[in-house]
Amino acid sequence: MPKITFPTTGASHEVEAGSDLLDFLQSNDSPISLGCTSGACGTCTAVVECEEGAVQALTTDEIELLEHTTDEANARLCCQLKVHGDISISPLQ
Ligand code: FES
Repeated sequence: MPKITFPTTGASHEVEAGSDLLDFLQSNDSPISLGCTSGACGTCTAVVECEEGAVQALTTDEIELLEHTTDEANARLCCQLKVHGDISISPLQ
């Protein structure tokens, strides 16, 4: 099962492959803030480190919103991700 790790807290959790990261974040104590939960506000932006394929590729809409949110490499909208492999999530500084 894929593992979600939060380096800032040291917490680590296993989830079902293909599960929505949003569902996990809403049901667990996490350092990631949520806003609209629909990919429109950028509140959930965080640095997501993972192997290719562990989450889906960036969409054009996600790229456009992230360009207005952060310059961080590997930034993603957590509310839009499905987890297929191990990922590490760090809030923006
Ligand atoms: S919570 Fe608004 S874009 Fe993710």
